[in-house]
Amino acid sequence: MSSIVEIPSIEGSDPETDPLDAFKNVLAAQLSKLIDLDIKVLYEALEAPRASENGHIALSVPRLRLKGNPSAIASDIVEKFQLNDYVLLAKADGPFVNFFLNHIKLAQALFKKIYNTKENWGNNNLGQQKKVIVEFSSPNIAKPFHAGHLRSTIIGSFVRNILKANGYDTISMNYLGDWGKQYGLLAVGFERYGSEEKLLEDPIKHLFDVYVKINQDAKENNAVHDEARAYFKKMEDGDEAALKIWSRFRDLSIAKYKDIYARLNIAFDVYSGESQVTDGMNRALKMLHEKNLLTESDGALIIDLTKYKLGICVVQKKDGTTLYITRDIGAAIERYEKYGFEHMYYIVASQQDLHLKQLFKILELLEFEWANKVTHINFGMVGGMSTRKGTVVFLEDILEETRDTMHEVMKKNEHKYAQIEDPLAVADNIGISAIMTQDASARRVKNYDFDWKRMFSFEGDTGPYLQYAHARLCSIERKTEMEVNPNADLRHLDDSRAAADLITMIARYPQIVRETARLFEPVNIVGYAMKLSHHVSQALESMYVMGAEKDVAEARLFMYWCARMTLGNAMRLLNLKPQERM
Ligand code: ARG
Repeated sequence: MSSIVEIPSIEGSDPETDPLDAFKNVLAAQLSKLIDLDIKVLYEALEAPRASENGHIALSVPRLRLKGNPSAIASDIVEKFQLNDYVLLAKADGPFVNFFLNHIKLAQALFKKIYNTKENWGNNNLGQQKKVIVEFSSPNIAKPFHAGHLRSTIIGSFVRNILKANGYDTISMNYLGDWGKQYGLLAVGFERYGSEEKLLEDPIKHLFDVYVKINQDAKENNAVHDEARAYFKKMEDGDEAALKIWSRFRDLSIAKYKDIYARLNIAFDVYSGESQVTDGMNRALKMLHEKNLLTESDGALIIDLTKYKLGICVVQKKDGTTLYITRDIGAAIERYEKYGFEHMYYIVASQQDLHLKQLFKILELLEFEWANKVTHINFGMVGGMSTRKGTVVFLEDILEETRDTMHEVMKKNEHKYAQIEDPLAVADNIGISAIMTQDASARRVKNYDFDWKRMFSFEGDTGPYLQYAHARLCSIERKTEMEVNPNADLRHLDDSRAAADLITMIARYPQIVRETARLFEPVNIVGYAMKLSHHVSQALESMYVMGAEKDVAEARLFMYWCARMTLGNAMRLLNLKPQERM
């Protein structure tokens, strides 16, 4: 049993950052001798069993594409398999072989790793610090920050966190909607309805009010439109006075946005925007012209993409002004020149699928060598996002209502409530967790309805549940009044299923981090965090720290500390701020 086993190295496996991989590699090595297949093929056929009673690692025989009956092959493997210090038991289960690991040995490597890496535990360097741009949130100045922007903000921040965790050098970019005829209209409106005082007080709300009023005027009087068009033309022509007013609106709005994002625990490296695109557009138009891709139609310039079933794109209007798509083409070119990105992600609602397909097709037709380095990460719609005051317009209102609702929920538990130092701040944080977790609880493309009741519940797959699980682990550490001892003797850990389940679940974290960088589905992280929390609860039923003998208590405390670290890291990927008390 105690024969010395060497850990082979396998491409794509990373025992350095992922202790579970050491176990997989040892397993794969022996299996590859038994069935005469490449070690890498076997490594890749090892998966997490569906249920924990089926062991800790399963070999899916059908995935090996061998001749013969998979169940018979599975039985054969079990018969020949030599148990060792890593694998304590192998059982055939239909076409699967289930392996039960030596969880104490796993814990010894795993906990050390976690203790040494802490907040970085689970991260890897697969991205080799290559530069990637994640463009997200991107609201429009003077217009409502709607549910689509909120989702883009939540998902975008998640995508950024995942890329960072996988070793990419990320640039988070907010591409504001801040250019176009409507900003000419806004300037005209400000002349009529603007108030300097209100602008300084709350630029987002005030500009929106002005915008609503001037739109009403424009509806009744066409001349307002002409005025707006003329104003925007001045802006496009670089008229200083026109640009000055507009850039004040922009700066004040950005300052306010920054506060709101900070509340969500989000920051942007770059505030760009449609207005920031410069000569990239003209160069693109010139290239399009040279490649014979531009057609004149009624004074406007268009690109015919009907061949690709992508319709027709207007890229320049009759009066020479540009459009949303034109600015996107220019922006992409300028970003590549400026950042030389390895990849760029656009986090934008599915409603703009066509727009982004057109954009990507045009970049391809322009034959940029980086045209395949862009990805649209899309998502479905959210319904029912309104507050008690009515249909929501401002993100801030949503956040206020969220905080207040969470506060009400917390007050119901009087005893606990009395112990919380700053209940409003806690309510704010848990409320925001509720929103973010609700958003991350299904696949991105799915539409969902804002459910004010369900998302605040402490039961089920909710943000408050995760926060509670985390705070509970913190309270164990506080109550025992023991320091976590990284040299605790882990042979004192229980030889129980609850212990083995929890340890292997913790060990799976790095793999989840790697896998999530493929499809960018936040639900995978939420699912993992939930399962981890359930295993923690299970473990807590039989494995106490308080009252246990010192050696046992130390080993258990170290285990719970590792669980807390892992849960915290998973929550941080979801952009949640783990709560230590609640
Ligand atoms: N501001 C746009 C909107 O609110 C979203 C921008 C998306 N990003 C882009 N590069 N087009 O609809």
